[in-house]
Amino acid sequence: MCGIIGYTGNKKCVPILIEGLRTLEYRGYDSAGVTVANSGELVTVKSKGRLDDLENKLKSQDELTGTCGIGHTRWATHGEPSDKNSHPHSTSNLSLVHNGIIENYAEIEEMLISAGYSFSSETDTERGAKLVDMFYKKSNDPIDAIKNAISVIRGSYAFGIIFKAHEDTVYAVRKDSPLIVSHSDKGGFIASDIPALLGYTSKYYRLDEGVIAVVKKDSVSFCDTDGNSVDQKEETVSWNVEQAQKGGFPHFMIKEIHEEPEAIRKTVEPRIKNGLPYFGIEALDGCKLSSFEAIHIVACGTAMHAGLVGKALIEKLARTPVNVEVASEFRYRDPILGKNDLVILLSQSGETADTLAALRLAKSMGVYTLAIVNVIGSSVAREADSVLYTWAGPEIAVASTKAYSVQCALLYLLAIRIALSKKMIDEQTASGICSSMVEKIPASIEQALKMNDAVRDVASKLVSSEHLFYIGRDIDCALCTEASLKLKEISYIHSEAYAAGELKHGTISLITEGIPVIALVTVSKVCEKTVSGIREVRARGAYTVCVATKELAEKYDIPCDEMLVLPETDELLAPFTAATILQLLAYHVSALKGLDVDKPRNLAKSVTVE
Ligand code: G6P
Repeated sequence: MCGIIGYTGNKKCVPILIEGLRTLEYRGYDSAGVTVANSGELVTVKSKGRLDDLENKLKSQDELTGTCGIGHTRWATHGEPSDKNSHPHSTSNLSLVHNGIIENYAEIEEMLISAGYSFSSETDTERGAKLVDMFYKKSNDPIDAIKNAISVIRGSYAFGIIFKAHEDTVYAVRKDSPLIVSHSDKGGFIASDIPALLGYTSKYYRLDEGVIAVVKKDSVSFCDTDGNSVDQKEETVSWNVEQAQKGGFPHFMIKEIHEEPEAIRKTVEPRIKNGLPYFGIEALDGCKLSSFEAIHIVACGTAMHAGLVGKALIEKLARTPVNVEVASEFRYRDPILGKNDLVILLSQSGETADTLAALRLAKSMGVYTLAIVNVIGSSVAREADSVLYTWAGPEIAVASTKAYSVQCALLYLLAIRIALSKKMIDEQTASGICSSMVEKIPASIEQALKMNDAVRDVASKLVSSEHLFYIGRDIDCALCTEASLKLKEISYIHSEAYAAGELKHGTISLITEGIPVIALVTVSKVCEKTVSGIREVRARGAYTVCVATKELAEKYDIPCDEMLVLPETDELLAPFTAATILQLLAYHVSALKGLDVDKPRNLAKSVTVE
């Protein structure tokens, strides 16, 4: 969601800003712009649409040779996507880019109108830029102006600012929205995410809240809002440029699906010690785990769907009640949390605004919080009582795939650990599941990936559908919610995930001749029941695709038009291969429709605003 890049150095900045914004495209955006400090002037060029549109506008700007500038990709919140609403927003003194939402922008607007300002856009950001300008006019001091502005602003922000009178310097500050800073012999940078910096350096500072960064071409310094110099911890990126590139695949999404076996290996193997799950966290490895009476998994989107898989596993193995909730609801509905409850925050990015707010709420209620996060050092990871990282590597495609699979795997390990601590399973059983996870999950996903052509054939039969259904029971039902979301996100086909037994209580009225129904059949206990559901929809003309385990496909006569048989594996591990096949299916439908698979319309990778 919104991308920020800023550069100061010895090179012409326009190509560097555009390249940086390209690496952030995956975050989702609908307009883009840059400001360059150029021969004593701040020159801004911005455009609705894609970066190519901005580049076309910049082609006629050969004189833009400045070596310091800021750039932005905007995902509209206040005001439609348009040239005038795009960032940067400028005054005669400064230019500013912003990620986040200024909640009290109306109040600020009134203050600015009294001070003689008028506005040309509908954005909260323009109000923010003019607020900094108002204070700057009083002191002529950028740090004083920023400090005063952020004392007025409520909401979330990551600001990158350049001033006409300080044309070799980029200033940055943030609250509740990520921003990183780096400095090397290649110059000084600010960015909203690591990929923008990977081509230049592997060292960076994750800016603390309320710290102002002053980035010059040959130095970087940080100060607090009293102007005192402060240190920021330098961190090293754990992945490289190649990992953030497509590596021969046509899209990031398909590349990332192919990375699932390795990601699961990396996430699971180091967490098994003497055959049993081991996290290196006292609260999870020690006796505290058995004292948790209920578990709340709070997350958004795909991560929330991984939570549903976690619920099925934890409740099955550990017989501990699990409540899964979307963070945007949890944070406002006055949730009931017991002192002995555990709240798990699941997030790929660790920056999702609603998940972060849910974490803060849980902490304020004195409940133990555990973050399961992919991005190291992200806000959710830093603020939770403890953190388990999913070592999936960078996930660039907006539609999450490998991050989901590793979240499910980690929740599986946690389920085993809780079951052990509550004495619901013995060590032998636990160790048997752990070794199966290590030996069989990556291998069976590798087998599932070999079904790519068969999955594409099935996808080709679905491309012209307008609506379809996913049905399943038990853990298959949880998997269907994610399969349905994946398809909706990237193929724009409307789909619904239903518990197979619930369809007849209303939704079956929507099943007409030719409507595709994708049935997931991996749970032997309810297989016959699901098969009955398949018969019911077939009787009403549905076109049925069945994704079933080998064992169940052989044992039962499952009626369907298309059958995708999953590679042989233990029943408890089948969800992993099923998830991969369903992700592949969504991918191929989107790719066959010729859509922008990695950057679906209106979506952002990391939603850092409410
Ligand atoms: C956005 C993305 C989804 C993602 C969700 C939660 O909506 O488009 O793909 O699942 O945020 O993101 P998180 O980073 O918290 O897992």
